[in-house]
Amino acid sequence: MIALDTKKRTEIKIRVRRQDGPGKKPYWELHTLPYEPELNVISILQKIAAQSKTSDGKKVTPVVWDCGCLEEVCGACTMVINGKVRQSCSALVDRLLEDNPDEIVLEPMRKFPVLRDLLVDRQRLFKALERVEAWVPVDSYYDMGPGERQSRDSQEQNYPLSQCMSCGCCLDACPQFLKIELEQKAGESDEDFQARKNAAYNESFVGPHAISQAMLFNNNPVGKALAGERLDALSGPGGIQICGNAQNCVAVCPKEIPLTTSIARAGRATTLHAIRSWFE
Ligand code: SF4
Ligand code: SF4
Ligand code: FES
Repeated sequence: MIALDTKKRTEIKIRVRRQDGPGKKPYWELHTLPYEPELNVISILQKIAAQSKTSDGKKVTPVVWDCGCLEEVCGACTMVINGKVRQSCSALVDRLLEDNPDEIVLEPMRKFPVLRDLLVDRQRLFKALERVEAWVPVDSYYDMGPGERQSRDSQEQNYPLSQCMSCGCCLDACPQFLKIELEQKAGESDEDFQARKNAAYNESFVGPHAISQAMLFNNNPVGKALAGERLDALSGPGGIQICGNAQNCVAVCPKEIPLTTSIARAGRATTLHAIRSWFE
C-alpha cells in the first residue's frame, strides 16, 4: 500500500518556519521539490537551498540550518519535524510521508533563541555542562600513567550516559526548561550582553542532559574528584529541585539515555551530600 503511494508520488511539499534574524517575526514558506526516493531531511534542505524558490515561484534566500556529522552523532541538526523534535540527518523523507503524505513541516527548536530560520543558539545547553563541570579534570599534560581501572558495573552504568550528543531534544521537551531569549540593549557592549545572558542561564534550570552528565562524571574514577562541586551545582539555583519528573526528556532522547534514572540518582546523591555537609 505504502509502496504504491510512493510510486504515484511526483513531488514533496515542505513547509518551513523561517525567521530572518534574532527577535524577528517568524513566517511560513512552502517549497515543492520533485519526489526522489530515499532522501533525508538534510538532503531536501540542500535541494531547497539550491532551488531558492518557493512553491509559487518567488525567489528567496536559502533556508539556514546547521549540521555536522550526518550520522546522528554531533547533535547539531536537531529541529522540530512534523511536530517532533529530532535530528534532521536521520529523518527519512519516505517515513515522514507515510505519517503525513501532504507535507513535511520543519520548525526550529522551541527552547533556544532562533539565530536564523532553523538555526538556533544552543549556548545555554553548553553553559549548563560548564555549571556541572561535565569533564574529567586533568592537572597537567605529562603522562601520569594509566588511571584507576573502571569496574565492569560502572562501565555498564556509564556507557549509555556517555552517548549524549548535546542535541537538546530533552530540553526542547522538558516543561521545566523554559525559553530564555534576551535582546542586546542599545549601547550595551557584546561582553556585557554575554555576561547578562550567562547570569540568566546560570539561574535557570540546568536540564536533564547536564544532570545525567554530572552522574556520568561522578561515577568516573578520575572525574569523581569534582563530585562535590557537581552536587553543589545540582543543589543550587536552577538545580535538580526544579525537575517536576514529567519524564518527557527520556521519551524523546534519540540515544535512549536513561535520563530519569540519572535524575533519581542525582536526587539521592544531592540529599546525601547535603546531610554530609551538615556534619562537616
Ligand atoms: S523528568 Fe525532569 S528533566 Fe525530564 S522532562 Fe520532566 S521535568 Fe524535565
Ligand atoms: S540527553 Fe539525549 S536528548 Fe538530551 S542532549 Fe543528550 S542525547 Fe540529546
Ligand atoms: S548532522 Fe550530526 S546529528 Fe545530524
